[in-house]
Amino acid sequence: MSAGRPTTVRAAAKVNLHLGVGAPREDGFHPLDTVYQAVSLYDDVLATAAEESSLELLTADHVDGAGVPLGGDNIIDRAAELLGAHHGRELTTRIHLTKSIPVAGGMAGGSADAAAALVALDRAHDLRTSDHDLLAIAAELGSDVPFALIGGTAQGLGRGELVTPVADNGEWWWVVAPSDGEGLSTPAVYRRFDELRPDAPATPEDPTELLDALATGEPLRLARSLHNDLQEAALDLRPELGDLLDLGERAGALRGIVSGSGPTCVFLCESRAGAMATAEALRAERDVVLLACGPVAGAHVLLDQAGA
Ligand code: C5P
Repeated sequence: MSAGRPTTVRAAAKVNLHLGVGAPREDGFHPLDTVYQAVSLYDDVLATAAEESSLELLTADHVDGAGVPLGGDNIIDRAAELLGAHHGRELTTRIHLTKSIPVAGGMAGGSADAAAALVALDRAHDLRTSDHDLLAIAAELGSDVPFALIGGTAQGLGRGELVTPVADNGEWWWVVAPSDGEGLSTPAVYRRFDELRPDAPATPEDPTELLDALATGEPLRLARSLHNDLQEAALDLRPELGDLLDLGERAGALRGIVSGSGPTCVFLCESRAGAMATAEALRAERDVVLLACGPVAGAHVLLDQAGA
C-alpha cells in the first residue's frame, strides 16, 4: 500500500432554503423534501496518519468550542471508524479541526466536519475510496453528511441523505446571526414539531415554487418562496428568535428564516451591498453577525502536502 499524505479538506455550512417535513417514519426519522444550499462559512480538517489517534480543536472567535465533543465522541471519530471498517483496517490519525461554523446552530457544522474528515482520511491513508462508497458512508454518519460532500444547491429526499443537484442561477447573499446563547438539539426540535403538528402529512411539502425561483436567480422571488417546517418548533422553544427575525427584516433583509432546526437565523438580502448594510445594522444589537454567500463547493482538498 502506498503512503498517504497529510491533507487539509474544507467543508461548508448549509442553509435549508426549503425544509418540508412529514410525519415520523417507523424508524423515528422524518421524511424530508428539502433544498440545501452550501454557504461560505467553513470548517477545515487536517488529517495526518500517525501512531495514535488524536483530535485537536481550534475555533474562530464566534464559535463556542465547549459544545464540540472531544475524547473520542466527535462525529470525526465515528467517520474514521466507519471508513476504517469499510477498508478492514484501523485508521490511526492526528486530526486538527478548525471551526468557523456555529456549533449546534442548524447549519450542519458537525456534518461538514464528518464530510471533510472522510475526504481527508481517505487521502491521509491513501485509501482511494470511490465517490459512491464515500456517499454511502456519509449517509450512515448523518442525514446532512452526503450534502456536505457534494455542496452547491441540491434537493434532499428520504431523511435528507438522498441528494441530487438542482439548477441554481443566482449568487445569493446571506446575513447569518448565530444564537447569543446555547445551541438547539436537533432531536428536541423534531420532537416539538411532532407535538405541534400531530396532523403532519406522510409526504412532506415539495419545493416546486422554490426551485422555480432558484432558476430565475431573482432574490425577491427566492425570498418569497423560502420555507421551513421546523421554524414553528424552533420559535416555540426559543421565542426570542421571532424578535431577531423581525429585527433583520427591519434592517433591510428581504426575508429572515431559522436555519434548519435553528437557532441560527439567516437573512436573504438583495445583493452583497445589501447584506453588508443589513449586517452593519444588526451589529448594533447583536454580538456576532456574519456574512455568507452561496452556493459554494462541497468538501474539497485545500492542501495536499505532497512529499510530506
Ligand atoms: O441524521 P442525523 O444524525 O443528523 O439526525 C439527528 C437527529 O435528528 C435524529 O436522531 C432524529 O432525532 C432527527 N432527525 C429526524 N428526521 C430527519 C433527520 C433528523 O427526525 N430526517
